[in-house]
Amino acid sequence: MIEFKNVNKIFKQKKSDILALQDVSFKVEAQDIFGVIGYSGAGKSTLIRLVNVLEEKTSGEIIVDGHDINQYSKKKLQNVKKNIGMIFQHFNLLNSKTVFNNVAMPLILQGKSKANIKSKVNELLEFVGLEDKGNQYPNELSGGQKQRVAIARALVTDPKILLCDEATSALDPATTDSILKLLKRVNEQFGVTILLITHEMSVIQKICNKVAVMEQGRVIEMGPVLDVFSHPQTTTAKNFVSTVITTDISTHLQKLIPEDKEATDIKLYIDGNKVTHAIIYDLITRYTVKVNILFASMSDIQGIPVGYLTLRIQGEEQSIQNCYQYLTELNIEFEEVSA
Ligand SMILES: Nc1ncnc2c1ncn2[C@@H]1O[C@H](COP(=O)(O)OP(=O)(O)O)[C@@H](O)[C@H]1O
Ligand SMILES: [Mg+2]
Repeated sequence: MIEFKNVNKIFKQKKSDILALQDVSFKVEAQDIFGVIGYSGAGKSTLIRLVNVLEEKTSGEIIVDGHDINQYSKKKLQNVKKNIGMIFQHFNLLNSKTVFNNVAMPLILQGKSKANIKSKVNELLEFVGLEDKGNQYPNELSGGQKQRVAIARALVTDPKILLCDEATSALDPATTDSILKLLKRVNEQFGVTILLITHEMSVIQKICNKVAVMEQGRVIEMGPVLDVFSHPQTTTAKNFVSTVITTDISTHLQKLIPEDKEATDIKLYIDGNKVTHAIIYDLITRYTVKVNILFASMSDIQGIPVGYLTLRIQGEEQSIQNCYQYLTELNIEFEEVSA
């Protein structure tokens, strides 16, 4: 649906050029909710703005819906842009217009009939839960309601793609959740492909199926959300993951665990898709070891329980080896740790 091929973007400056994007390549498939995460200045906004040509690439290709958008004439580009809606951190509504007219604006600009506009706008206001707010002005609404208006406006031309630039970054956690649920409905009910950028891993965790991690203009890691969350490779990705999944015992708790030279501590990675056995019960009953849980943390990633479990095992060396063999046979990832 959207493909970046070796995309570079340089902002020419008087003193030195800014390399905002460097050799960026990845593909967003139809129906994806694709998240791009990175710290401030990583190049996320520049990247997303290339898709609807708010910004022009310096080199590389950007393929949208099968066509290289930079090869289009101005007129054809207008048609492509109709297929792409966008929402922003600060909503970008017209404060002098009513909610109804804000949502209607893209259709008014297209010269659609009044009856046509009325039914489409009302349909979308109902979809975003603001059917009773049409006559109010943006200033009379909360942040979450403003973003709902912006979402209705972005959808009024029936786009195939929705771009979201930090759409929940100005909202409180509860409102963020309600907007993310709404975006998920946009994706599911209307089949809209969503490309969103954020600096919050919890946003990715809640609605994305794929994620790319950006740093200094480059994509440094990418893949299905479950893969990146369970096996982050780079320090930056690890840092982002650690904001939503606790993988290790905190140093404070660590101090409270008595040292035991006789025991072996192991850390297990639990993928709820794979782990169906009663592991602890099996370890204790089959291999006559004592098992204590030192630490456990589970998270919901894409509806799959995923987490880490640190166990302290006491027993004969052979019994411990048998435990390891059992875990290996079940394909459970684990490592010895010093708790
Ligand atoms: N219009 C512009 N002119 C000059 N530099 C820009 C412009 N837009 C972005 N940049 C620079 O490009 C880099 C990436 O910015 P941006 O894409 O906004 O990052 P992010 O959205 O990840 O915070 C930054 O160094 C920023 O200062
Ligand atoms: Mg930005």
